[in-house]
Parts: sequence; structure tokens; C-alpha cells
Amino acid sequence: MLTIRKEHRDDQPAVFHVNKTAFGRADEAWLVDKLRERPGIEFISLVAELNREIIGHILFTPVTVQDGPITWEAIALGPMAILPPYQNQGFGSELIRAGLEACLTAGHTVVFVLGHSNYYPRFGFVKAQSKGLRWEQNAPPEAFMVAELQPGALDGRQGIVSYLPEFTDI
Ligand SMILES: CC(C)(COP(=O)(O)OP(=O)(O)OC[C@H]1O[C@@H](n2cnc3c(N)ncnc32)[C@H](O)[C@@H]1OP(=O)(O)O)[C@@H](O)C(=O)NCCC(=O)NCCS
Repeated sequence: MLTIRKEHRDDQPAVFHVNKTAFGRADEAWLVDKLRERPGIEFISLVAELNREIIGHILFTPVTVQDGPITWEAIALGPMAILPPYQNQGFGSELIRAGLEACLTAGHTVVFVLGHSNYYPRFGFVKAQSKGLRWEQNAPPEAFMVAELQPGALDGRQGIVSYLPEFTDI
């Protein structure tokens, strides 16, 4: 059975391995390590364990949204990864649902993601552009998405979304 829990300090090598193997390069794994070094930032980092092996990881980091003179805060999903032998068995979906639940428990009601436009809509994500929201960097408009974890969370909210600076290197 899949167990989803908060990442512990001694999970870091396994989390690095999951990200590096799933993405087929180390960039996302290094990014996760760099973000952890950032002081004073509240992350949500969960692992998925199967038979005591860490087979998946999901990270949420804070973002800011600038709407003219108003700045508001939200959270962004990514990176996330499932080890290749365990992909397409629903584990990624379980991890995302648990992650979104953890975000809501932590008081977040708006979550962004930059990712596969045919994967994330099943979890409630819609094109951010359709809500008057865009990423500060260039991205294919269909890849930048947003989800409301509470109905109406985006009412009256729009603007330009900034991730932590570590993301710009990737
Ligand atoms: C994306 C990922 C996390 C999904 O995890 P998973 O456990 O395989 O996902 P699930 O089993 O819950 O869901 C499988 C579905 O995801 C879809 N999917 C998987 N990878 C995808 C991709 N690269 N693009 C689009 N859809 C993808 C599958 O087609 C499948 O769709 P279906 O349910 O309609 O058949 C996993 O494939 C992975 O680690 N990929 C490499 C790293 C990556 O791309 N991370 C996401 C960055 S945004």
C-alpha cells in the first residue's frame, strides 16, 4: 500500500534519486536541494513510500502575485516525480491529491502549476490565463494552470505570478 507522508531530513538522498531518475537529469533534483537551503520559507514536501522505498516526491513552494499595487500570496506545485517503474499506476495522482489536501490544511486556497496540460486538469487545474493570471516568465499559456482549493478563492484576484528566484535557473 502507498503511504504518503511529510519528507524527513534523512529522506533527502532518496528524494534526490527520485527526481533525478524521473526527469532523466539532475536539474530538478538540484533545485529541490537549493530550495531547502532557503531560510524562513514554508514548503510543503511530501514523499510516497511503497514497501519502505520512496518512489515519489511532491513539493509546493510559495509564490507571490502582483496585481498593480496589491501583492497576494499563493503556493505552487512542482517539481513532482514518480520513479519510472511506478509511473502510470495512479501513484502520482494520489500524491497530488494528498498534496492539495496538505496545502488546504496549511491554509492555502490557490495553487499554481506549470506542467502537462493534459494531466493537471483532472485535479481541478484550469488555464491560469482564463482567470487573468500569468507567470512572470514566458510559458506556453496552456502549461500554466491554477486551482482553487475553495470555491471562489480566486474571486477578484488576478495578476502576475512570481516563483522563488531559484526556479529561474531551470
Ligand atoms: C508526471 C508524473 C509525476 C505522473 O505520475 P504517475 O504516477 O505516472 O501518474 P498517474 O499514474 O497518477 O497518472 C497517469 C496519467 O498521467 C499521464 N502522464 C504521465 N506523464 C505525462 C506527461 N509527461 N505528460 C502528460 N501526461 C502524462 C499519463 O498519460 C496517464 O494518463 P491517463 O490516466 O489518462 O492514462 C510522472 O510521470 C513523472 O514523474 N514524470 C517525470 C517527471 C515529470 O514530468 N514531472 C512532472 C513535472 S510537471
